[in-house]
Amino acid sequence: MSTDNTESTESKCGASTDGTTTDAAADTGSKCGASDSDSSGSSCGASSDEEEVGATVDDFEADPGRFVAVGLGPGQPDGMTARARSALLDAEHIVGYTTYVELLPDEVVEGAEDIYNTPMCGEVSRTEEAIDRALAGNDVAIIGSGDPNVYALAGLALEIIESKGATASMLDFDVVPGVPAAQSCAARVGAPLVNDTVSISLSDHLTDMPTIESRLHATAKEGFTISIYNPWSRKRRENYQKCCEILLEHRDPETPVGVVHAAGREDEQVEIVELQELPELGETDLVDMTTTLLVGNEDTYVWDDRMVTPRGYETKYDY
Ligand SMILES: C[S@@+](CC[C@H](N)C(=O)[O-])C[C@H]1O[C@@H](n2cnc3c(N)ncnc32)[C@H](O)[C@@H]1O
Repeated sequence: MSTDNTESTESKCGASTDGTTTDAAADTGSKCGASDSDSSGSSCGASSDEEEVGATVDDFEADPGRFVAVGLGPGQPDGMTARARSALLDAEHIVGYTTYVELLPDEVVEGAEDIYNTPMCGEVSRTEEAIDRALAGNDVAIIGSGDPNVYALAGLALEIIESKGATASMLDFDVVPGVPAAQSCAARVGAPLVNDTVSISLSDHLTDMPTIESRLHATAKEGFTISIYNPWSRKRRENYQKCCEILLEHRDPETPVGVVHAAGREDEQVEIVELQELPELGETDLVDMTTTLLVGNEDTYVWDDRMVTPRGYETKYDY
């Protein structure tokens, strides 16, 4: 196994027969024709540098390999599904954000021919790199925490495959689900989400803040339980405070909130607090980009250090 990162320049996929990179690749510095421009600039903030897809399906002459998006679950190897582990053991190349690569079990790392990791952001170039490697004939897994369908790269991968003139079928495209953060975090605080639940991400990188605010109002007003992803970063202090304000506008200040940092990882922290305590937690280690908030509805209560959201059985049965 070799481990790559963006510093390296040696091509691993070869969008042309002689093993050199395509013109598009040369323009962008990508190993496989992908754009190297990091959409983030910093912390995935908005940037004027649009990432563009480089190589198209016609630039590759090999028979394509397989492409699979694999959800790792919350982090620890035993939180991964057996199917995810097996898909990773089958992959020749594994592509992912550095933090997720560091979560891979040793046997997966040792078994892979090549691991390509990049720091936070650059999702488009990383996903394109993975697709180009598959178009060049390698069996590739792109990895992410939780599930590939929850604020993750499964959709982006299909969009990029389409934009290259390739098809999902030619890459045997597959998605291997993982346990999403909302569910692994819910499990740490009892049963906060057993009824109708809405997930909202406070990241305004791809959805603008007015839209996020309007979704928060609608959800909080309607009494859903809420799982809040991407709650806080240095650049998103205001989003977090705005979110707290909106929740407190619609919900009782004593509404229980599960605050779960790094579920299943070495630095896991778990607390159940009241909604009115949430604003002051924004500047603590408990709430950051590895935290998920689970906001109860009007029926949620705390019993024996666990959050309980009644499913509704009590309205039909005596127990
Ligand atoms: C880009 S989203 C990815 C979500 C992921 N695909 C999922 O299904 O959970 C990243 C956010 O997921 C949440 N998250 C991911 N892993 C977590 C963990 N181990 N503990 C708590 N929250 C986590 C955090 O809210 C983080 O900001």
